[in-house]
Amino acid sequence: EKGNFEHYMLKEIFEQPSTIFDCMRGRLLLEDKKVYLGGIREYIDQLSNAKRIVIIACGTSLHAGMVARYLFEEICRVPVEVEYASEFRYGNPVIRDGDVVIAISQSGETADTLVAIEKAKEMGAIILGVCNVVGSSIPRASHAGVYTHAGAEIGVASTKAFTAQLTVLYLIALQVAKEKGTIDNERFKKLITELDLIPEKVQQILENSYIAQSLASLYMDAKSMIYLGRGYNFPIALEGALKIKEISYIHAEGYPAAEMKHGPIALIDEEMPVVFIATKDHTYEKIVSNIQEVKARKGKVIAVVNEGDDVVKHLADHVMEIPETDPLLTPLLAVIPLQLFAYYTGVLKGCNVDQPRNLAKSVTVE
Ligand code: M6R
Repeated sequence: EKGNFEHYMLKEIFEQPSTIFDCMRGRLLLEDKKVYLGGIREYIDQLSNAKRIVIIACGTSLHAGMVARYLFEEICRVPVEVEYASEFRYGNPVIRDGDVVIAISQSGETADTLVAIEKAKEMGAIILGVCNVVGSSIPRASHAGVYTHAGAEIGVASTKAFTAQLTVLYLIALQVAKEKGTIDNERFKKLITELDLIPEKVQQILENSYIAQSLASLYMDAKSMIYLGRGYNFPIALEGALKIKEISYIHAEGYPAAEMKHGPIALIDEEMPVVFIATKDHTYEKIVSNIQEVKARKGKVIAVVNEGDDVVKHLADHVMEIPETDPLLTPLLAVIPLQLFAYYTGVLKGCNVDQPRNLAKSVTVE
């Protein structure tokens, strides 16, 4: 089943051009300049009129939700809160009339997420599920939802399910923005055109996977790493850090880059690799100065950059390039080199990358 791949995780990373493509099939209608998700058809009015969207999930799925927050706020102009399912479930959350809850889960069986949505449902929220496993508990407990159609994900570390979740969330946000009229036609057209090109751009990144592999051999002995990004790439920093922890057992932390000087900068010395997501967007100049701050303290900088970026290339010790896209869509590309870097680091360290110690594929107990 692994075909020519040594591990499921690698196979699943390499499947992403086709899983993202499949996820958009019949939903992203480029010729009609439309996005149409049958799964939420009956709830599109509630979604468009929502006073607030609350996103509930755990782990990697939570990171997808955190990206979605930036997205919905930017193009749908709706306030979004993202909450760990476990915190929602044991907290005393405020759910008001007109709130829509989006639950994100690959397995559809995560206990905390399931109980959290039952709670939100009792409080009167509309629940939309974004899940991968068809017919699992969360879709059954939801009012409606959208499947990610990424196929079975065997590796415990979520990779292709994550990019499929992001894809679905982009599609939902685009459909809602269009419905609400919070996006102009030009921008909508640009975003759907760029989204359609994502699978081939992911493919290009995968063709350069040897770069992540060679960086893995340089940094496999690191004791700790810091991952930094801003805006919609901040959750990608968290995701990169989670992947390296799970797969290679290297301690890592993700932060919004600006938070560095509020504490983590104290950790930086010549032993500390700092992974930046430094793609071109409105925070680029800020990220460049964060990189300079790390270099001034002799930290080692690995940066995910857009192709042809000479500025960061000169500052950083190493770069992993990704093709340009609309800045809003960069999370879909920026995560790929970080998945590869975690995978190769784990392999070089002799870790069981498909089944890391102490982890289960779906966490059905608390
Ligand atoms: O099946 P779910 O998406 O609900 O699972 C949530 C987390 O348990 C999951 O994403 C976990 O963090 C993965 N091991 C991440 O790679």
